[in-house]
Amino acid sequence: MKYENLITIAIDSPAAAGAGTQAKLISKHYNLFHLDTGKIYRYLGKLKIDNPNKFSYPFIEKKIIKLKLNYLNNKSLLTNEVALSASKIARDKRIRRIVHYYQQKCAYDPPKKFRGSVLDGRDITTVQMKDAMFKFYITANIKTRARRRFKEYQSLNKKITYEEVLKSLRNRDKSDKERKYGPLKKTKDSILINTTKLSKKACFKKLKAIIDKKLNN
Ligand code: C5P
Repeated sequence: MKYENLITIAIDSPAAAGAGTQAKLISKHYNLFHLDTGKIYRYLGKLKIDNPNKFSYPFIEKKIIKLKLNYLNNKSLLTNEVALSASKIARDKRIRRIVHYYQQKCAYDPPKKFRGSVLDGRDITTVQMKDAMFKFYITANIKTRARRRFKEYQSLNKKITYEEVLKSLRNRDKSDKERKYGPLKKTKDSILINTTKLSKKACFKKLKAIIDKKLNN
């Protein structure tokens, strides 16, 4: 499909605000290719933990070229330790540039069977897909986000307290918003969705109404 005919959706959000879940629902409903870009940084964050001495730019480039999307579903990427490592390495300009190439292919040249793409992360509306047809900034209050993430960790049998989750989210929010390259911020042309008091279903209904309105015009 030609690029002009693709449906492109960019979503930014702080951690655990529900953006990943909504991006998945959107991708299923509209048959769009979905990339959770945080998983790429998590993949690199885990590589750094597992290979502290080998971790260099050429090493990262090699790994990214070979990266299979399937691997991003690996449960080992879901730990708090990996999230913090990801957030640290995501401050690096050269690493962001390497990841950028990977994301561009997913955003603008998705596999032919899809009608377009939906990417979620921290710099999607600001850097990766500035010209997306739809731009959303999904957020929720930090205690609600911490509660949701804590429940997810409990269902995965991870040993972590609610207070530790809250602290970790605070640290990541600060680092992700204040860093020099690709900081998380809401662009003027992004639609703000606050999910604090919204169920997954209600949130999707809201997003769908906005998307359908434009697509059907
Ligand atoms: O979304 P998730 O919490 O899995 O992302 C892990 C980390 O990856 C974030 O805290 C952030 O530092 C980094 N990230 C980023 N840019 C993106 C997506 C994620 O810097 N587009």
